[in-house]
Parts: sequence; structure tokens; C-alpha cells
Amino acid sequence: LCTSCAFREDAQKHLSDEMMEFYCPSCETAMCEECTSGGHAEHPTVPLKDVVEQHKASLQDQLDSVKKSLPEIDSALLMLTEILQKLTNQKSSIEDDIHNTFDDLQKTLNVRKSVLLMELEVNFGLKHKVLQAQLDTLMQGQEGIHSSCSFTEQALSHGSEAEVLLVHKQMSERLAGLAHRELPLRPAENHQLDFQAETDGLRKSIHNLGSIATTSAVASHTVATGDGLRQCAVGVATSITVTTKDKDGELCKTGNAVLAADLAGVAATVGDGPEVGEIVDNKNGTYEYSYRASKEGSLTLSLRLYDQHIKGSPFKIKAVKAIDISPSSEGAKSRLKSPGSGHVKQKAIKRPASMYSTGKRKENPIEDDLIYRIGTKGRNKGEFTNLQGVSASSQGKVLIADSNNQCVQIFSNDGQFKSRFGIRGRTPGQMQRPTGVAVHPNGDIIVADYDNKWVSIFSSEGKFKTKLGSGKLMGPKGVSADRNGHIIVVDNKACCVFIFQPTGKLVTKFGTRGNGDKQFAGPHFAAVNHNNEIIVTDFHNHSVKVFNSEGEFLLKFGSNGEGNGQFNAPTGVAVDVNGNIIVADWGNSRIQVFDGSGSFLSYINTSADPLYGPQGLALTSDGHVVVADSGNHCFKVYRYLQ
Ligand SMILES: *[C@@H]1O[C@H](CO)[C@@H](O)[C@H](O)[C@H]1NC(C)=O
Ligand SMILES: *[C@@H]1O[C@H](CO)[C@@H](O)[C@H](O)[C@H]1NC(C)=O
Ligand SMILES: *[C@@H]1O[C@H](CO)[C@@H](O)[C@H](O)[C@H]1NC(C)=O
Repeated sequence: LCTSCAFREDAQKHLSDEMMEFYCPSCETAMCEECTSGGHAEHPTVPLKDVVEQHKASLQDQLDSVKKSLPEIDSALLMLTEILQKLTNQKSSIEDDIHNTFDDLQKTLNVRKSVLLMELEVNFGLKHKVLQAQLDTLMQGQEGIHSSCSFTEQALSHGSEAEVLLVHKQMSERLAGLAHRELPLRPAENHQLDFQAETDGLRKSIHNLGSIATTSAVASHTVATGDGLRQCAVGVATSITVTTKDKDGELCKTGNAVLAADLAGVAATVGDGPEVGEIVDNKNGTYEYSYRASKEGSLTLSLRLYDQHIKGSPFKIKAVKAIDISPSSEGAKSRLKSPGSGHVKQKAIKRPASMYSTGKRKENPIEDDLIYRIGTKGRNKGEFTNLQGVSASSQGKVLIADSNNQCVQIFSNDGQFKSRFGIRGRTPGQMQRPTGVAVHPNGDIIVADYDNKWVSIFSSEGKFKTKLGSGKLMGPKGVSADRNGHIIVVDNKACCVFIFQPTGKLVTKFGTRGNGDKQFAGPHFAAVNHNNEIIVTDFHNHSVKVFNSEGEFLLKFGSNGEGNGQFNAPTGVAVDVNGNIIVADWGNSRIQVFDGSGSFLSYINTSADPLYGPQGLALTSDGHVVVADSGNHCFKVYRYLQ
């Protein structure tokens, strides 16, 4: 209907007579020709046909653009369906895993149960047999006595003279035999059958066994930071931090997200190629990734979270000459931080060789971390026979417990022999097997004597002062002094740690034999950190355990194996100023570095001149690691990045 038509009352007629062929854009209305001169006389009007064409075209455009989003929705649907499918599959596969794991444990338990029941049966059987046999013998004996006695008594009281004469010889022989017969009157066995099971630790382990690892992190909100996203210096390890976030942009506070890094480009394909490092999970929702470019050029780094590119990925990176990067730039700074400043793997902290081009270098033409080694097998000054404990004084001295030479030898930080003291023997002041050595804050030298079962204290000149722990210690191996001047003694044989005052008064002791947290299966050495916490190596449990100064268990780390952070019988231990823990791994003949929480950081590179059963270990006052390379009868000093 022509709404503006003057002939409203006759609309029907008007509509049929007059075609609406015009359009007024300002009133957005169609009208007949007549009306263009009526109410719209002032307005410009256009032919309706043109306007309709225009509208059609614009609607078509809108239609097209809406339709265009359909494929996007399709692929999102596909992706979601896939994720749902994977989630469901993962759930059932984990269900299977959980069932299998616990069925396996159940089986192991049942086998153990059967073995124990069988052992019980066997032990019972053996004891029962012995006791039953003894019982039978005794009863036979008793029966024999009863019957002989009653026969003889019968004959005595009721028998005729003839009868007595007749039986006399026979009875007398029998009675004499009985009188001389030795019956087993003392028990040939005992009743003991005990069941001993240490289940507390096990129960605790089972209580905490397994966990479901997951996060709600999504790629679309996850970000990467660091200069290394834009540029890097050739040959230098450059690191990037990825921060995972959930759909609401909240930081995910746990680790375990599935993150993958892929580095490609000119520098990645030529020459040695960049060392594409591992992604290190900080376990707090952030991850470190480090890489290294082998030459100048451009690189592309893709960072994918659950197969999806994170924000900004892939990143274009320019690899430039090291000198082209200003030293104050963030990337270069963080690279030189101590290994304790982040959970950085060995590759990422490997230093450029030029930093260490010192005069000492020629002593070790093959480039590992060794600075020098001192000693061969022997009994002379500067020679060793099975050296064990090592200590370093703040006065620039290195002290070595030379166990089979019954002495302590002292060197300067640069390896010059200074002095030695110790006389073989079993009277106070003498040494039988010195295995541990420590320097007391007051300068005294503390020596743990494994075979004399005591700890001796000498002045810094080696003059005997006193001994402590006699009658208490069973086999003191390692010794250390804490911030309060207390003396920490690791009793290897008794599987415990003693804390003494220098006067010999016992402050406390902790630990028993076993594999529990507060137990030791073979403790060797101890170190004390700045918080006065005591770090003990447990040789046979292949772990390192940390306690507070009261002896309360704080944490432990390590398991048996050859992997990063695993041990094959840890021995020497030291702590640096940042609380990082350095551990000699005896069976794997290597030295590992951990942070204060026990996360593996790196190795000391000992590859050029391999260790053979390293024992005691310490940090020298000039920041190097000194280790007793027992099997090679020498000590070695290594670079250690502070
Ligand atoms: C996560 O842990 C790393 C390494 O321990 C630390 O440097 C970082 O500050 C932590 N980040 C947050 C957000 O807690
Ligand atoms: C240790 O040093 C050797 C000798 O220079 C070298 O070949 C090796 O790559 C180094 N190992 C590591 C893990 O850096
Ligand atoms: C060390 O102790 C833990 C329990 O604290 C135990 O699970 C583990 O098996 C022990 N390791 C060895 C090699 O005995």
C-alpha cells in the first residue's frame, strides 16, 4: 500500500490504478507517481526498481559473508569432535592403565603373601618336627620307666621269693639301663615365629600412588615471552618462557601441559644445526625452552600447545653474530645467571669456551670442566691410598682424608701440597681409617675415623685436641660442621646421623636402618646448607635426603639408574651459596648438580678424564668443585658455574 498516498480513503482503487514505481530514500518508503508530488514533493525520489536491485545486492553480500563462516564452524566442530573423541579414548585407556597397574601390584602382593605363608609353613614344619620328635622320645622314656617300675614293684610286694630271684637279674639290668638312659629333657627348639613387616612407608607410598596429570590450558590464551622470540646470537643458548593460560585467560598453576617446539630455517639446516633443547616444565604453569642457532639467518619457531599454535606462533627469529647483540639485552643476561636461577638443562647453561680461556687451560687440552688433578697411588706426600673425604677451608685450603695412609693431607686451592698429619694407631689422637674430614668454623679440623669408631678434633696445625662419639658411633664415615658449630657425623654402620657439640655432648641423633624417609640404607656423607639443613647421601637407597637441624625429614630425591637425576650409589655431597646441591654419583662415576628442591640441573663435565668411584666432594673457597677420585687415587678440581 502506498502509505503516503493522498487517496488513503480510496486506497483500493489507487493501488490497482497506480503502480508504486518510486522510492523516497529519506522516508524509506515506496510510492506511486502521484505521491512524488504530494507529501514527498520536497524529497528527492528515485525509481523503485533501482532501489530494489541495490537492496538485493546488499542482502546477497551479507548472505555470502555469513555463509563464508560456515567452513570455519565446520572445522571447529570437527576439531572439537576430535578433541572429545581423544578425551574419551584417553579416559578409557587410562582406566585400563589404572586397572593394569593395580592388578599388577595386587599380583605382586599375592605372590609375596604366598611366599610368606609358605615360609611360615616351612619354619613351622621344621620346628614342629623337632619338638614332636622330642616329645615322642620323652613319652616313650616315661612309659618305659612307668612299666618297668610297676613290674618291679609288683614283684617286690607280691612276688614269691622264687619269683624275685627269677626276675632279679633281668629287672636290675633294665632298671640300671633306665637309670643311665639320657632323655632329652631340655627343649631342642623354641616357639619363636614372628611376622615382621614395615608397612608404614609402603602404605604412604600406596596412598600417594599415581596421579592424573592434566591442565586446562588453551593455545589461544597461552603466550611466549623473551627476547629469543625475535632474535638470538649465533652459537649461544637462548631461552624463551611459555606461560600457559586457560579459556578465561587465568594462569594455569600446574605443569604437565603438552607443549611442543619446532625450530626450522636456514640456520637449522646448515652446519651443526641448532641444538633444539628440551622444554623444561617449571611445574607452575610456565615452561622454558632454549635453542641455539648454528649460523646467521632466519629461523622459524613453532610453539604448539596440544597441537595448536600458541599466541603469536610461529615466531620469526633473526640469528645474528653474538657481538651484534648488546650485552645488556635480556637474553644475554639470563644466559649468564647461575644454574640455580631456573630449571635449566645442561645444554642451556653450557658456557662459551672463551669465558674460560685461562692459563690453566693447557693442563687439560681436552675441553671438559677439569682444571687439574693431583696424586697417584702411594704413601708419600701428595700421594694417596684410597682417599675418601674432602673438605675445603675458607682460608683457601683443600683437605683430603687419606684413609689407607691413616692421615689427612692439606693442599692449597691451586693444588700445592702444604702439609699432612696423622699417625696410624688405636689410641686417642691416632688414626685407623680416616674417611671423613671437615673444617670447623673455628678452624679446627674434624676427622671421622671409621675403624676407631670415633671423631677426632685437631687444631688447624694438626695438633690433637680431643675426640668425641666413642661408645656411641659404630662406623662414622662422613663429617660436617653446621652454622652453629655443631658437628654432624654420618654413622654409616648404624645408619643414623649424630649431631654433637664440639665438647662431645650429643645434641640429637636421627635415622635408623631402612628405606623409609627418615631411615638410611647406607648413609655416607653430609653437607649443610645456609638454612642449616642437613643433606645426606644414602648410598644403598640411591637417594639424597634433606633434614632440618632438628633431624626432621624435609625431602628426598633420586632413584636407582643412569638417567639425569638418578644415582648408582651417591657418596660425596656439597652445597653452593645458592643452595644448589652437588652430588658424587659413585657407581655412575659422575658428578650431578641439583637445585635446592632436588631438581636435576646439570653435570660437571668429567668426560675427558673419567672418574672412577668418586667419594668425598666439596666446594673450594674459590668456587671450584674438588672431588676424591678414589679409584684413581687422586683428587680433581673442576670448574663450577656459580
Ligand atoms: C615458575 O617457576 C620458575 C622456576 O622455578 C620461576 O622462575 C618462575 O618465577 C615461576 N613463575 C611463577 C608464575 O610462579
Ligand atoms: C664434555 O666435554 C667433552 C670434551 O670437550 C665434549 O666432547 C662433550 O661434548 C662435553 N659434554 C657435554 C655434555 O657438554
Ligand atoms: C629407597 O627407598 C624408597 C622408599 O623410601 C623405596 O621405594 C626404594 O625402593 C628404595 N630404593 C632402593 C634401591 O632400595
